[in-house]
Amino acid sequence: MRVGVLTGGGDCPGLNAVIRAVVRKGIQVYGYEFVGFRAGWRGPLEGDTIALDVQAVRGILPRGGTILGSSRTNPIKVEGGIERIKDNLAGLGVDALIAIGGEDTLGVAKQLHGAGVNVVGVPKTIDNDLNATDYTFGFDTAVNIAMEAIDRLHTTAESHHRALICEVMGRHAGWIALHAGMAAGANVILIPEKPFDIEKVVEYVESRFKTRYAPIIVVAEGAHPLEGQMAVQTGELDAFGHVRLGGIGQRLADEIEKRTGKEARCTVLGHIQRGGTPTAFDRVLATRFGLQAIDAVHDGEYGKMVALSGTDIVRVDLSAATDRLKTVPVERYEEAEIFFG
Ligand code: F6P
Repeated sequence: MRVGVLTGGGDCPGLNAVIRAVVRKGIQVYGYEFVGFRAGWRGPLEGDTIALDVQAVRGILPRGGTILGSSRTNPIKVEGGIERIKDNLAGLGVDALIAIGGEDTLGVAKQLHGAGVNVVGVPKTIDNDLNATDYTFGFDTAVNIAMEAIDRLHTTAESHHRALICEVMGRHAGWIALHAGMAAGANVILIPEKPFDIEKVVEYVESRFKTRYAPIIVVAEGAHPLEGQMAVQTGELDAFGHVRLGGIGQRLADEIEKRTGKEARCTVLGHIQRGGTPTAFDRVLATRFGLQAIDAVHDGEYGKMVALSGTDIVRVDLSAATDRLKTVPVERYEEAEIFFG
């Protein structure tokens, strides 16, 4: 049996841990051979491969990024893309493919499975917005990075008695903002799921300024104000049609400064949230996902994604994982709101 492995979409800490687990168990227990595909779906589309054996995965467990490289290449947008992938897999003698990615990568995996390719998916994203799994790996690391940054912002904000806005990732789902903001005691958390009222935000900021503390606002990059309240900028689209965001934190800082007369500054954490070594939680989750993925291949259970359910690693249909995004439920936001202001 020859198994292909690829990592697609935005990278995240823990990808290498999955690759290592897949390869180690696949070779040691099942006697399989592996082919690594470079740069997400571009690899199978162009037949661009990399050797993947036990030697290649030695020492990669704590390393961020992905030894295979990643991209947002969308083969469905390429004329004859699916057929080209099928031909390349056949030409390379690849019997099954493990695709490690988020909603876009797994959406392509689902289509390929429908076209007769033996695929198993592994859920990855710092955003934690994939349906049918309790958590994705990468999320815990991103939250810890953001929490540490917010802890640091607290002390400098208090020294200068100014408002500090911390913009974190999350285009459609505010999981990072919610968890990092809650863990670090933010005074306001703004998420894409709930359009914010700038008047209310200013109220929270002003009430905080009355104490010896200074306001810290955590805002997800996809958060937006109630219609008509503030102009926000939109960016260009990627191959999967997602808008490239960034800018809401600075807009908020400008608006808060204008409305309160107090200094406000913005820190955008950006790709720092995706880089570097994974936390212990993410290393273990990614490793367990990898082990389950190669077991699914061994069982011939294709069209599935491995997932976390409670503390168990289970297999769910790829369609359940990609049908809709897992966003922050109202009641989770309400828990955080108790601490606003
Ligand atoms: O999906 C992961 C993610 O990090 C999002 O949180 C973010 O909006 C996006 O990727 C950024 O993508 P890129 O690195 O391609 O700009």
